[in-house]
Amino acid sequence: MEGGKRLTGTVRIQGSKNAALPVLAASVLIPDTCVFQNVPYITDIGCMENLLRSTGAVLEKREAVMELCIDARNIREYRLPARYVSAMRSSVVLMGALLGRIGEALVDYPGGCVIGKRPIDLHLFGLEKLGAQIWTDKNRIHAYADELRGALIRFPFPSVGATQNTILAAVTARGTTVIQNAAREPEVTALCEFLNKAGADIVIGHDFIATGRIVIHGVDVSCLHGVTYTVIPDRIVAGTYMFAALCAGGSVALENAPVSQLRSVCDLLRRMGGNVVFDEEHDRLLVDTDEKRRIKNIPFVETGVYPEFPTDLQSPLLACACVSGGELVLKERIFSSRFKVVEELVRMGADIAVLDDESVRVRGVEKLEGRTVIARELRGGAALVIAGLAAKGITTVADIRYIRRGYQDIVGDLKGLGARISYVD
Ligand code: UD1
Repeated sequence: MEGGKRLTGTVRIQGSKNAALPVLAASVLIPDTCVFQNVPYITDIGCMENLLRSTGAVLEKREAVMELCIDARNIREYRLPARYVSAMRSSVVLMGALLGRIGEALVDYPGGCVIGKRPIDLHLFGLEKLGAQIWTDKNRIHAYADELRGALIRFPFPSVGATQNTILAAVTARGTTVIQNAAREPEVTALCEFLNKAGADIVIGHDFIATGRIVIHGVDVSCLHGVTYTVIPDRIVAGTYMFAALCAGGSVALENAPVSQLRSVCDLLRRMGGNVVFDEEHDRLLVDTDEKRRIKNIPFVETGVYPEFPTDLQSPLLACACVSGGELVLKERIFSSRFKVVEELVRMGADIAVLDDESVRVRGVEKLEGRTVIARELRGGAALVIAGLAAKGITTVADIRYIRRGYQDIVGDLKGLGARISYVD
C-alpha cells in the first residue's frame, strides 16, 4: 500500500468471527439441520467447517448468499483431527458441544494466535463441575461423561471461551446450571440467543453486564431443533476500520456496525479527536477527522473485559497512536504477551518503549516510513495495514494469512474507501 491517502466512503461490516465460531460448534448439539447466514469467509471458519465434518456433520455451503447449512443428525466421532485443532484455539469449544451430544470428546491442545499464555484450565474446570471426567497428557485432553449434571459454577476469571464451552455442555445436562462471573462479551449472549432459538432454556437477565450470571435449565437433546440464524456483525472489524479512518484521516461510514457494542471504542476515538456520530436514519456509524487538526494521544488506555476497551483492538489503537500527537501509555490486561507488533512498528519509525510485559509507551511521530513488515498474528497484522495507510511511501505486509483468519477482505474494503492498496501475488 501507498500511504498518505485520506479514506472516504462506505464499508459494510462482515459477520463476526468470534460469534460465528461458537454457534457453528453449537450445531453439533442439535440433531437436525441449521442454516447460518452472514457467515464470514475467513480461514478460521474454514477450519471449523473441517472440524464439524470430522464429527460426522454434513455441510452445504451457499457462498453466493453467505449461507452455511449444517446437518448434524449423525454425529458419531468424538475424536477431533489434530491438524485443525492445533490451528485454531476456538476448536476447544467443540468439547462442550460433543460432551453434550455424545458424552465424549478427545482433542489435542488447541492452537491459535501467539499472544501469550493461553491455558484451558477454566474450560476444564467448567466441564468437570458438570460431571465430566477429564484425562490429560502432554498433548491431548480426553473428556467423558455418562451423564452431565447441572451445577453452580463460579469462574475465578470471566473467560469467554470457558463460558461458551460450559454453556454448550450445560444445555442438555440434567437439572439447572448457574454460571457466576461469566464472560459478558456480546459473543456469549449471541451463543445463548442462538441456542434458545434452537430449543434450549437459558436465562440471561437484563442486568447481565452487572451480574455476569447465566442460568441454564437442561433440556433433552430431542428438544433441540434446526433453526435459521444470522451471525451478528463483527465489532472488532468495525473497530479496526474506525482506527484506520482515524489514522489515515478521512470520512468513513460503517454499515451494519454493532454500534451498542462499540461504546468504549467510540469514546476513545472521540477523546483522541475523531468525530464519531451514529446516523440513526441510515443505520450507519460515521467516523471523520478534521483535515487541519492532528489526532492526539490521551495519556493512558488499558484493555479489559467487555464492556471495557477490547484487547483485540489494542494493536489497531497502537498503530494509530504511533502517528498521533503526544504520548500514550497502553496497558494490556487480558493477554500476557500481546505486543509482537511493536518490533514491526518500530521498524517503520514508531517511537515505542516496552515498559514491561503488560505496558508500552508510545510517543507520536510526525510520519511513519513505508517498509516491508511481517504479520505475526491476526490483530497485529491488521494494525500493520493501518500503520501502512499513514506511512510515507510503500508498505508491504508479509504473511497476511494471519489477517485472513479474521478479515474477509481487508484490502478490498480499504480499496473501496479509496486507499491505494492491493494484494501482492
Ligand atoms: C476470546 C476471543 C479473542 C479475545 C478474547 C478476550 C474467540 C475465538 N477469541 O478468546 O479474540 O481476545 O476472547 O476477549 O472468541 N484464560 C485462562 N484459562 C482458561 C481460559 C483463559 O487462564 O482456561 C486466560 C487467557 O490466558 C487470557 C484470558 O484468560 O489471559 C482471556 O482469555 P479468554 O477470555 O478465554 O479468551 P479466548 O476465549 O481465548
